[in-house]
Amino acid sequence: MKQKILELLSQRQGTFISGEELSNMLNISRTAVWKHIHSLKEEGYRILASPRRGYVLTERPDILTETEIRSGLETRVFGQKVAFFPLLDSTNEEAKRLAAAGAPEGTVVVSEQQQQGKGRIGRQWASPPKIGLWFTLILRPAVLPVHAAQLTFVSAVAVCLALKEATGLPFTLKWPNDLILDGKKVCGILTELSAEIEKINFIVVGIGINVNQKQEDWPSELRNMAVSLQIAAGRTFHRAAILQVILAKYEELYHNYLQNGFAPILQAWRELNSTLGQEVVVKSPEGSFVGRAEDVNADGCLLVRKASGELETVIVGDVSIRVK
Ligand code: BTN
Repeated sequence: MKQKILELLSQRQGTFISGEELSNMLNISRTAVWKHIHSLKEEGYRILASPRRGYVLTERPDILTETEIRSGLETRVFGQKVAFFPLLDSTNEEAKRLAAAGAPEGTVVVSEQQQQGKGRIGRQWASPPKIGLWFTLILRPAVLPVHAAQLTFVSAVAVCLALKEATGLPFTLKWPNDLILDGKKVCGILTELSAEIEKINFIVVGIGINVNQKQEDWPSELRNMAVSLQIAAGRTFHRAAILQVILAKYEELYHNYLQNGFAPILQAWRELNSTLGQEVVVKSPEGSFVGRAEDVNADGCLLVRKASGELETVIVGDVSIRVK
């Protein structure tokens, strides 16, 4: 009901709606309307109340509650269930717990703050409150487990296109799925899989986006490696609005992928990437080496030509552009 009231207030775009109209439209008493308005105000919504004219929404807070994320969300499946937590160990961990207990595809787990945010290859992911977007999407794709890594590319392309649309900033993709601005990382994606030999039970796609950080929010050693949307654009962003754009784009690309296969996604990834053609340093579980990133194969593995002429296929690893 609170979400419906918020949607009706939003649709009026800064003009008043009377308590009577709200109560008639929602079939609840005017006292109930007042109680929901009061609760929205407590969450940080600025709503003016005039005894004669009714209510008007003048400001939305930058919060990540289910009400804020779902109000105005234009998707059929993604985000139709939102599990919001002020504090979690990791949204990926909670998503795995919920998925194992049967949470449906498209469920979004979002947390204001993570105490044990996880990065790729066993690293940590700093996840302070109020300034970032830390969330995980639960997927149950009907594809074979051997193709699960393709989802990391679907995710990267979806988030990249959505953020371009929402901010106008020139993001590129570093293999396999880091989002880069000005050579610095603005978003990381951690995909985890639960599967049997022939069947995926679920995939959780954890996405961390630096949204409103300022330089001083990072320790000095990270300042030339990380960037936020705010630093790059020179303005702050409303995190729930960013999340809505991502969910809509992701849902569209995910269904295209399930219907048309991986090739169009890989093509879109090639158009957005800034790794191919570069001299790179590859750190993989087997060790480090340098070479020229030549291509990605049909499974998304990176093909790197070493100085010896040998072509190395990188399945898992970390790639940095080599500074000469
Ligand atoms: C990377 O190393 O680039 C991946 C970072 C992924 C971070 C996100 S934040 C939301 C989700 N929960 C986590 O614990 N990690 C991912």
